[in-house]
Amino acid sequence: MVTLALVACFLLRACLILGFASSEAARTQPHIVFILADDYGWNDVGYHGSEIKTPNLDELSAAGVRLENYYVQPLCTPSRNQLMTGRYQIRTGMQHQIIWPCQPYCVPLEEKLLPQLMREAGYNTHMVGKWHLGMYKKDCLPTRRGFDSYFGYLTGSEDYFTHNRCVKIPPNNETRCALDFRDGEDVAAGFTGQYSTHLFTEKATDIITKHDPAKPLFLYVAFQAVHSPLEVPEPYLAPYSFIQDHNRRYYAAMVSVMDEAMGNISRALQQSGLWDSTVLVFSTDNGGQTLFGGNNWPLRGRKWSLWEGGVRGVGFITSPLLALPRTISKELIHISDWLPTLVGLAGGTTNGTQPLDGFDVWGTVSKGNPSPRLELLHNIDQMFVDTAPCPGRESRMMAPAINHSPWSDSKFNVSVHAGIRYKNWKLLTGDPGCDHWFPPPQLSNSSESSRMEASLKPVQLFNIESDPEERHEVSQHHPEVVHFLLDRLQYYAKAAKPINYPDDDPKCDPGPSGAWGPWA
Ligand SMILES: *[C@@H]1O[C@H](CO)[C@@H](O)[C@H](O)[C@H]1NC(C)=O
Ligand SMILES: *[C@@H]1O[C@H](CO)[C@@H](O)[C@H](O)[C@H]1NC(C)=O
Ligand SMILES: *[C@@H]1O[C@H](CO)[C@@H](O)[C@H](O)[C@H]1NC(C)=O
Ligand SMILES: *[C@@H]1O[C@H](CO)[C@@H](O)[C@H](O)[C@H]1NC(C)=O
Ligand SMILES: *[C@@H]1O[C@H](CO)[C@@H](O)[C@H](O)[C@H]1NC(C)=O
Repeated sequence: MVTLALVACFLLRACLILGFASSEAARTQPHIVFILADDYGWNDVGYHGSEIKTPNLDELSAAGVRLENYYVQPLCTPSRNQLMTGRYQIRTGMQHQIIWPCQPYCVPLEEKLLPQLMREAGYNTHMVGKWHLGMYKKDCLPTRRGFDSYFGYLTGSEDYFTHNRCVKIPPNNETRCALDFRDGEDVAAGFTGQYSTHLFTEKATDIITKHDPAKPLFLYVAFQAVHSPLEVPEPYLAPYSFIQDHNRRYYAAMVSVMDEAMGNISRALQQSGLWDSTVLVFSTDNGGQTLFGGNNWPLRGRKWSLWEGGVRGVGFITSPLLALPRTISKELIHISDWLPTLVGLAGGTTNGTQPLDGFDVWGTVSKGNPSPRLELLHNIDQMFVDTAPCPGRESRMMAPAINHSPWSDSKFNVSVHAGIRYKNWKLLTGDPGCDHWFPPPQLSNSSESSRMEASLKPVQLFNIESDPEERHEVSQHHPEVVHFLLDRLQYYAKAAKPINYPDDDPKCDPGPSGAWGPWA
């Protein structure tokens, strides 16, 4: 029996890379559950020392591998895009911003997405929650891009209870509020009043309970939690009465619901007998948004910026199948790495995708091998503007200094918002976005928060390994590293697709009784 299983395993090429604990546990195709949180910050999980209580996330991650040198993109659409394609945003023309509800575009249809590859590998594929990868035409919907089933919403920022999204629509900027909720491709009315984290958890546990254990499951749960608006059922607020700051208190309560959801989902996997052959990944999509209760302390910046607070993500992997459980990984891993990693685990093939930027990091997360990833392009975006309030920012703007920059003769235009990482080095050019260190509210009048930021330069180099808080800009001391990284940025810039960021289409208007959804 064991020999047969090993042979089957060998033929599927899966076991070669599996760091399975023991051969009897080694089914060739583990169930894969990927859970994505929205705007969940570095300092918002118990195991990073947060005042927010997350017993389930703490326990699940403690039993697995906490990824502490793990990167995501600074915004919702970009991170999801890279998760689904295994490719940098510059490859798809989606390097600027998110997809707003009336913009007529989606992840290019020639991109082969993760669920398509999982389906080809023989998996049942289900998605619950936030899509945000475009929906102006039906071909862009999750059900047309590899998911057998879908229950969730297509845009972002809607109400947690009504599931309505209000949008200013062209040509007159009138505000249209309409439902954004679907079951498959059909509008899902009738869920008003039910909190989305509860609904998505119920849907996810239902899928797990009904799943035939003989077939491999790929379940992608993309929570609305803990993105704004700050809304939560009253009882979850009670444990946080000690938090004075209104936004932080509501946010903390929203995190608690999500943490409870993690408990419910893992319990459902255990009770249905799937757990022993499940690999569960948890990841945020970007750093916390300090304007709405999130926090990334002691990291610098926040969502929407290329500082560590925007891109260093909370993430872990847990599974009874890990060869080295209960560890912390300091290896460089990026959200684009999940596609080749999970398809590899599934015994599938990435044949048919466009050239990938992601690496198969299974050996790294399961066995502690060095990461195959040495370099990481954070982004290049010529159109970047950030106008959101950011403490003291005006006094630090770098614009006048650009012409005097020692790097202004570089082939790469150093006025452009860009970031790249190579081993321990991180280079930022242009305006990286809000650069403040936001202390959590309880520290907000301590001496920590009053440390001043220096004025910003157009080219900034940090040694992230020794200085993860990005407090010591060292470009002058390492000109050879700066030259090398500017060359790398230029290499990527030359290969970039032009930005695709179309104007809003007035035809998006669903009318007073309709729902947001495909219009083209
Ligand atoms: C609509 O809003 C946009 C962005 O705020 C603005 O640029 C535009 O002028 C507005 N259009 C009208 C007709 O008010
Ligand atoms: C978790 O399950 C319990 C028991 O069924 C339920 O009362 C609770 O609402 C669930 N929590 C979430 C976040 O779905
Ligand atoms: C990849 O796909 C192409 C086209 O479908 C096929 O010809 C080729 O044999 C495949 N290669 C592998 C390694 O599966
Ligand atoms: C460099 O980038 C900035 C910001 O995107 C742009 O305004 C400027 O025109 C660019 N300069 C050149 C020479 O392309
Ligand atoms: C914080 O500020 C309040 C009001 O200004 C002051 O009473 C308190 O001592 C300060 N706490 C710390 C830790 O500095």
